[in-house]
Order: sequence, then C-alpha cells, then structure tokens
Amino acid sequence: MAGRVLHSLALLAVVAPAVLAATTCGGGTLCPSDTPCCSQYGQCGVGAYCLGGCDPANSFSLDSCVPAPVCQSKTYSFDNLDGIVANTKYLGDSSKADWVSSGTPLSYNGAVLLTMAQDTVGTLLASTHYVWYGKVSAKFSTSAGAGVITAFILLGDSKDEIDFEFVGVELESAQTNFYSLGITNYNNGENATGLSDVHENMHEYEIDWQPDTITWSIDGKVVRTLDRESTWNATSNRYSYPQTPARVQLSLWPGGLASNGEGTIEWAGGLVQWDSPYMTNGYYYATFDEVSIECYDPPSGANVNGTKSYIYTDKSMTNSTVEITNDNTILKSFLATGTNMSAGYASSSASASGTAKSSDVATIPGLTGAGPGTNGQRGDNSSDSSDSASSSVSGSATASATGSASTGFVQGDGGSGSNGAAQYGGNSESVLRGSLFAVVVALVGLCIM
Ligand SMILES: *[C@@H]1O[C@H](CO)[C@@H](O)[C@H](O)[C@H]1NC(C)=O
Ligand SMILES: *[C@@H]1O[C@H](CO)[C@@H](O)[C@H](O)[C@H]1NC(C)=O
Ligand SMILES: *[C@@H]1O[C@H](CO)[C@@H](O)[C@H](O)[C@H]1NC(C)=O
Ligand SMILES: *[C@@H]1O[C@H](CO)[C@@H](O)[C@H](O)[C@H]1NC(C)=O
Ligand SMILES: *[C@@H]1O[C@H](CO)[C@@H](O)[C@H](O)[C@H]1NC(C)=O
Ligand SMILES: *[C@@H]1O[C@H](CO)[C@@H](O)[C@H](O)[C@H]1NC(C)=O
Repeated sequence: MAGRVLHSLALLAVVAPAVLAATTCGGGTLCPSDTPCCSQYGQCGVGAYCLGGCDPANSFSLDSCVPAPVCQSKTYSFDNLDGIVANTKYLGDSSKADWVSSGTPLSYNGAVLLTMAQDTVGTLLASTHYVWYGKVSAKFSTSAGAGVITAFILLGDSKDEIDFEFVGVELESAQTNFYSLGITNYNNGENATGLSDVHENMHEYEIDWQPDTITWSIDGKVVRTLDRESTWNATSNRYSYPQTPARVQLSLWPGGLASNGEGTIEWAGGLVQWDSPYMTNGYYYATFDEVSIECYDPPSGANVNGTKSYIYTDKSMTNSTVEITNDNTILKSFLATGTNMSAGYASSSASASGTAKSSDVATIPGLTGAGPGTNGQRGDNSSDSSDSASSSVSGSATASATGSASTGFVQGDGGSGSNGAAQYGGNSESVLRGSLFAVVVALVGLCIM
C-alpha cells in the first residue's frame, strides 16, 4: 500500500512542474468520470490510459479499462522493428502490433536493442497480448554498469508481477522476484548466481507460470520454484501469488539516478555513469534476440464466455474474477475509453491539434501535452508532428535531439525525493528498491521549445 502511495507522489513530483497537475489514482482513490482510466503509473486519463496497464480497481469503473487481448502463442525473433509500435500510436489492435514501446528500440544484427542514452530513462517494450499462465522465454544479453537495470518481467494490470532482473554491477547473477497486487514483500527476492557474464553472453531466461507453481529457469536449468501454497496470506485471506493476466515487459532503465531514493540507488549498484565504457554510440543497451510465448489453457473453472479478451468482474482481482470474453479491444481514437470505445472527434476536418478542450486531456500515460493527435487518430497517422519517441528512431545518442517531445520514461521512484522520502522515513529506502518500481514507468514529455 505504501508503495502505491509513493508511485503517485513520485509521479506528481516528476510531472507536475511540466504540466497541469494530472489527477492521480491508486490505493482506493478512483479516477473521475471524465478521465476514467487509472494508468499503471497512477494517473487518470483516456485513450492509452485505458489500454495495457490500466488498473480496473482504481479506475472510475471496472469497465473503464479496455478489455485485454488474450494470450497468443508466438515466437518473436526481432529481425526488424515491424512488430513494435510506439505507445503514441497504439490503439489496442493486437493483430497489428506485437509490442508497444516507449523510449528508443533499435534494430541491430537481427536483434532489438533497448537503448538508454544520457538523460533518458531507457526503453520499455510491453507485449500487446496478455498471458494468463504460460511459458515465456527470452534470449538476451543485459546492459552493464553501475545503476543500470535490465529486466524481463510479467506484469498484470493488477500489479501481480513475476521478474527476472539484472543489476549492471552483478554480471554473474540474475535476481528473481514476484509480487501480488504490487504489495512490497522483501522476502520474495532470490538470486541465481554463478552465471557466465550476462552482459557478454546471451542466456535463455524462462518463466514457466502455472496456476500452482512458477518456475524460473536459465539455459534450461531450473533456478527457482515457487508453489502457490507457500504464499497464503492469512491477513488478506488470499494467496499472494501472481494469478491475473499479465503483459510481458522487456526494459532497460536507470535505477541509479540521483533523483531516486538512496535505497534504489544502492540496490542498483550506484549512480549511472554517463561516460561509461559500457556505452556505445552514446547509449547503454540490452540486446534481445528472441522472445517466445507458449500459452496454457485457461485454468479449470475459469469464467470463459468467449475467446478474445480478458476482463475483470470484481475489484479483488483474484484468479476467479477474470473472465474471457469476446469484447472488443480496440479504441477508435485517443479520446475513447472502455465505456465509449468509439469516442473521437465529431468532425473529420479538425485542425492539427484538435479542439482546445480535447488537447488538454491526458491520452498517453506520462507523455504530457501529447493531446489526442490529429483528429484523435494518432494511431493512424504517422505524419502527426506531435508524435514522438520511437517512431523517429534514428540511432542518435540523444533521444531528445530530434526536436519533438523528448520522451524519457522514469522508472524507480522517479525523484519523489523530498515528498516521498520525508513522509515515509527510513522505510521508504527499501520501499523504493527493486522491481516493484520497474513498473513505475512514467513517460515524461518535456516540451523543448
Ligand atoms: C541478491 O543480491 C543483491 C546484490 O548483491 C543483494 O542486495 C540481495 O540481498 C541478494 N538477495 C538475496 C535474497 O540474497
Ligand atoms: C499480507 O497481506 C497484507 C494485506 O494486504 C499485507 O499488508 C501484508 O504485507 C501481506 N503479507 C505478506 C507476507 O505478503
Ligand atoms: C483460483 O485459485 C483457487 C485457489 O486460490 C483455486 O482453487 C481455483 O481453482 C482457481 N480458479 C481458477 C479459475 O483459476
Ligand atoms: C456472455 O457474453 C455475451 C455477449 O458476448 C453476453 O451477452 C452474456 O451475458 C455473457 N454471459 C455471461 C455469463 O457473462
Ligand atoms: C461517445 O463519445 C461521443 C463523442 O466522442 C459522444 O458523441 C457519444 O455520445 C458518446 N457515447 C456514449 C455512450 O457516451
Ligand atoms: C494525418 O495527418 C495529415 C497531416 O498532418 C492530415 O492531413 C491527415 O488528415 C491526417 N489523417 C488523419 C486520419 O487524421
């Protein structure tokens, strides 16, 4: 719970100076009806706020969030960037995109590089399809250096989470972890050690997620097993076991930013050095060669009433509140929401940035001033000048050098500094550590003009 509060504080601190204060949500604070969707970063909006990461329990209503595309068994070889769509363009059509990106992914030698240039907060790819139990493996080499975190995780809209994480100063180990509903538990993490240099070498990391057990493996060797039975929490009267549909997320992010909490920086191995020999062409990078997803059948007793999408029937977000439906997953525009998926501009001849009112609406989590795009059809219009980030990937060292909005996403506590830490005292140090905050990705669009 403290973690959630901190998410919001952290984001406020990062985003508030740049924009009008965004409405925050989380921990039982719901979004208002006009910006009904609570993003995974704890802010309210429409459009992309209602897609992947939208938290039904803290949104205006359970159906504010758009239904989530069901699991699809597939191997992604990253031979090019074709399946990767910027979060400023994705409207929920998982048949046209495999991954939604923030930051700067680059294609290199048949793999995708997640890059992190100076003064950016790295790159995140989130799968468009969710997984509700399945075997997910990824072949990659990590980045390296103090403060630099590489991650391969499963993350639910409920904030159930299953992790492989890599700290750039520990090149012979992988950290495994899990969370239930985003509740911090310091005893959940374990280290798999004795690996050959994870930066120099590609390894295959696998998460085998079943209703009763989770198995983490590296190069075919089991390094950890978690039984659901061992996670019973008598206080909450439920298993603290990841049990709700999750997206696969690949990321490279700076745990070691001066603005992060001391505990986060320490966990990350110190401050990020922006002149590190581990940087190439001006950026840190992690190399993802392949990801493979093998979906399992829905658990016995699952609430099945279709084949296309997952929804929640209750805020408790247990396995038994998940329903498989035929509900539509695609929004018509960045002004739409789960309860009005066809909302958009009335006139198709709207001027470049739409009406003044709608351009004030938060449409892309963390990306400030993005507005809904031309005619609310950002997703269909690659020439929209307010688009930013990975659509214009150039390989340049500075993601912000293009002159469009600079999009860095902040992971870690994102500079909650004074307000976060002061309120929670010493405890916040550890609260801010670790993979819980790999989730707190805030795209901060700085209008450089
Ligand atoms: C894993 O390794 C990190 C870094 O050395 C350390 O901080 C952490 O306590 C270790 N975790 C466990 C469970 O041993
Ligand atoms: C059990 O659940 C309670 C209430 O959600 C939570 O505060 C506590 O941290 C949980 N305990 C463990 C060990 O996860
Ligand atoms: C949900 O989990 C419970 C254990 O907490 C199990 O008994 C039940 O079969 C599961 N239901 C589904 C639909 O997975
Ligand atoms: C199943 O889905 C249909 C629409 O696809 C809906 O009308 C019906 O109420 C649903 N049934 C249940 C039990 O949810
Ligand atoms: C959906 O939004 C449009 C405006 O974009 C509006 O005209 C329409 O009435 C809305 N529908 C509902 C059911 O609210
Ligand atoms: C896309 O952008 C161009 C130029 O900005 C504009 O002329 C066109 O109408 C836009 N298309 C849509 C679908 O908004």
